[in-house]
Amino acid sequence: MQQNQALQELLEALPADERLRGRTALITGSSSGIGEAIAKVLAASGAEVVVSGRNSDRAGAVADAIRAKGGTAHVVTATLDAEPSEIREFAARAEAALGGSIDILVNNAGVYPGGSTADVTDEEMQALWATNIRAPHVLVATLAPRMAERGHGSIVNIGSWMARVGVPYMALYPATKAAIEQLTRAWAAEYGPSGVHVNTVAPGATATPGNGAFVDVLAAMTKDTPAGAPVRPIDIAYAVRWLVSDEAAFVHGATFDIDGGIDATRMR
Ligand SMILES: NC(=O)c1ccc[n+]([C@@H]2O[C@H](COP(=O)([O-])OP(=O)(O)OC[C@H]3O[C@@H](n4cnc5c(N)ncnc54)[C@H](OP(=O)(O)O)[C@@H]3O)[C@@H](O)[C@H]2O)c1
Repeated sequence: MQQNQALQELLEALPADERLRGRTALITGSSSGIGEAIAKVLAASGAEVVVSGRNSDRAGAVADAIRAKGGTAHVVTATLDAEPSEIREFAARAEAALGGSIDILVNNAGVYPGGSTADVTDEEMQALWATNIRAPHVLVATLAPRMAERGHGSIVNIGSWMARVGVPYMALYPATKAAIEQLTRAWAAEYGPSGVHVNTVAPGATATPGNGAFVDVLAAMTKDTPAGAPVRPIDIAYAVRWLVSDEAAFVHGATFDIDGGIDATRMR
């Protein structure tokens, strides 16, 4: 709770600048946590953003906060574990809200159920595949060719520090994040030559509403890392902002660990 309040104060105090002025951005899962911070940071730098999630009230509150600071935000709800046709229809609604074209796509929405491999339910398996892999794939398949036609665009996929380590009771979720890292490399090869940047940002253990019930676990996981504490969503957002800016003109297919050093220094 305290962490959430501290994050909201940081987001509230964001200085405005113009580095993304004139660009449009769709951030999935931006009604909460990391996605919310990304939407607010991109909007503070002048981007016109679509805030999205299943719950229109939560998304609406984020959009209202952006507008209150002088930014431009639209709410477009989505159910990303729905059929691909519905994801395409969501992309079209987001594109229409943003005046017909999307310059920046952040595939952030994700689910991360834990538990022993034997206990993973069929519903969890389906949600992990549909939300974490299929929806980003459908959105990239729909929007990247249009970015390529225009000769510019930026896509950031949100991965995870868990994609490259074995964590007990978390087998399938990190596998979806390893998949998104690999898709990033393939999409960079496919769309990069047409001016579309595709990269991954891999957060470490980050304090968000999604894992708000596990504050003690996050603290224990991160206390021996170089940062010594959970990542703040705003730190992920700063990395995304740089990646979608002109300053990252030579960055393609990369994975950036914004993880407090957990992956580099983890002992087991
Ligand atoms: N938190 C961490 O420690 C951590 C670490 C590494 C990577 N990540 C990754 O970072 C991303 C964000 O995580 P978070 O902790 O910020 O999550 P969060 O607080 O639970 O927020 C998840 C967001 O995704 C949306 N969402 C979830 N399922 C959806 C669905 N089926 N259709 C549409 N929207 C959906 C939620 O909106 P609604 O609830 O309104 O639908 C919400 O906006 C995820 O990809 C996660 O895997 C998180």
